Amino acid sequence: MLHFYDRLEIVSENKIIVRSATHDDLQPVAKIARITWDATYHHTIAAENRHEFLERAYKIENLAPVVNAAGHWLYVAQLNSDIVGFGHFLKRYHPSKSRAELVRLYVLPQYQNLRIGKTILETGFDALARANITQCFVSVQSSNTAARRFYERHGFTFKDTHGQFLGTQIITLAEYVRPITAKDLLNASNS
Ligand SMILES: CC(C)(COP(=O)(O)OP(=O)(O)OC[C@H]1O[C@@H](n2cnc3c(N)ncnc32)[C@H](O)[C@@H]1OP(=O)(O)O)[C@@H](O)C(=O)NCCC(=O)NCCS
Repeated sequence: MLHFYDRLEIVSENKIIVRSATHDDLQPVAKIARITWDATYHHTIAAENRHEFLERAYKIENLAPVVNAAGHWLYVAQLNSDIVGFGHFLKRYHPSKSRAELVRLYVLPQYQNLRIGKTILETGFDALARANITQCFVSVQSSNTAARRFYERHGFTFKDTHGQFLGTQIITLAEYVRPITAKDLLNASNS
C-alpha cells in the first residue's frame, strides 16, 4: 500500500504521464488487467471465468494488433518507469454515426483515486474529438457502483442494461453514452 505522503506527492507533483502504448507496454498492461480484475470482480465473477477471459483477451498476440492501429486508441499511465493503468478506446461501426467505445479502463488498486483514470479519459476524449467522433459508449458491470459514479461524473449518461455471457455465467452490464465535442479538445480555448 502506498504511504499517504507518497500518494500526496504523486497528486501534487503531477508525476503521471499518459501516453500511447507501445508493444513493450503490453506485458505490464496484461499484468495490471489481472491484478485489477481480481480486486474489482472477485465477488461478482467466478475465478475460472475471470481467468479464462483474461487469458484470451490479454494474450500479447491478441493485444498487439491494437497498438497504433487505425480506429484504436490504447493509452498507458506511467509513473516514473512503472505502468500503473491503461485505457483502450475503439471506433465502433455504425453506418452513419461516428461512434467509439471505451472498452477497457483499469488503474492498479493502490493507484486509484489519484486522478489517473480522469487523465486517461481526458486524453482519449481529446483523440476522439480530433477523429471527429461524436459519441463515446462504455459498458460497466451494473454492480460496479464506483466505476458507474466515476463515468457519471465525467459526463456519461445511463442508457440501459443488458446481459452478457462471461464463461459459464451471465453478467449484467450498464451501458452509458457521452457526447464528444470540441470542448474535449485539450488545449482548446474552452474558457
Ligand atoms: C474506475 C477507475 C478506472 C477510475 O480511475 P481512478 O484513477 O481511480 O479515478 P480518478 O482518481 O480519476 O477518480 C476517482 C474518484 O476519486 C475522486 N478523486 C480523485 N482524486 C481526488 C482528490 N485528489 N481529491 C478528492 N477526490 C479525488 C474523483 O472525484 C473520483 O470520484 P468519483 O468516483 O466519486 O467520481 C479505477 O478506479 C479502476 O481501475 N477501478 C477498478 C476497475 C474498474 O472498475 N474499471 C472500469 C471498468 S468499466
